[in-house]
Amino acid sequence: GAQCSVLGIETSCDETGVAIYQGGRGIVAERLHTQAAMHARYGGVVPELASRDHIRRLLPLVREILDHAGLMQPDAVAYTAGPGLIGALHVGASVGRSLAFGWGVPTVGVHHLEGHLLAPMLEPEPPDFPFIALLVSGGHTLLVDVADVGRYALLGESLDDAAGEAFDKTAKLLGLPYPGGAALAALAQQGDGQRFRFPRPMTDRPGLDFSFSGLKTFAMNTLREAGEADIGADVARAFEDAVVDTLLIKCRRALAQTGRRRLVVAGGVSANRRLREGLAAMVDDQGGSVFFPRPEYCTDNGAMIAYAGWRRLVAGQSDDLEIRAMPRWPL
Ligand code: KG4
Ligand code: ZN
Repeated sequence: GAQCSVLGIETSCDETGVAIYQGGRGIVAERLHTQAAMHARYGGVVPELASRDHIRRLLPLVREILDHAGLMQPDAVAYTAGPGLIGALHVGASVGRSLAFGWGVPTVGVHHLEGHLLAPMLEPEPPDFPFIALLVSGGHTLLVDVADVGRYALLGESLDDAAGEAFDKTAKLLGLPYPGGAALAALAQQGDGQRFRFPRPMTDRPGLDFSFSGLKTFAMNTLREAGEADIGADVARAFEDAVVDTLLIKCRRALAQTGRRRLVVAGGVSANRRLREGLAAMVDDQGGSVFFPRPEYCTDNGAMIAYAGWRRLVAGQSDDLEIRAMPRWPL
């Protein structure tokens, strides 16, 4: 029923996230373990290390949130079934499926991106349907027309690097540790916005697709031409301006093209302050409204999976005994 409690498990990449969502109450317990420090020395996520760490962390975290929520067991289990790293997905899927089997409760395999784009529904003033969703993370950049839960139409996506990936690669060029998105944004604050102008890729032609890999190359060439000169902050600023501006232009276009008035922004890059301010001003200008998850629900977490799973279960969906883990899975 709608009052049921759902355990959500997220292990698609380098965060072990667990949460319990209860209909009528919201998130009643949650824990997150981030592996970022473990992968930082390799300059990116090492899939095998990620899987092993999920194995170590997951069950103790589930134990903790059940105790915290005062539950012997939840009424259902939702786990991220994809897309993501196959080994990492298998940990969450196998543990989630096994727990559910032991407890005799249903499971549902959740699409990771559906988790992200429903995350703003966990806020005190959630958006109504329909809305346009901009999903900007380390692995994905997409614009989706969301008519309702489960009714998604892809409007555009990145043809190469995701926005977060471009942030991370450019941060690496600037000597910042992985994942460098937030550090690049901090560095950009000290930069001179007039010094360099980077291109706004694919904005001079119609359409809602993106391409961000050229910006990293542009940053590389700019740094090379400068030689020894200390221009890191100015490059960070020009790069951030270009990404933010490009996302703004495409979001404005998506709203105009569909006639929608609400914009939801989710995924790790939606934590970016200048993107949030820019989008808020643009949407305000168009007479619409913009919705963001709180910062801790912008990046990967268990709460968004518990919530998306609850929506699916309440709508009558659940899986049979199979364990679902799909590294590639269109929304
Ligand atoms: O959603 P997420 O946690 O993981 C994926 O599913 O990919 O997103 C992580 C991405 C990373 O690329 C990280 O550098 C980026 O989000 N990110 C940021 C900021 N905070 C995190 N990028 C720009 N500005 C930020 N403040
Ligand atoms: Zn994610």
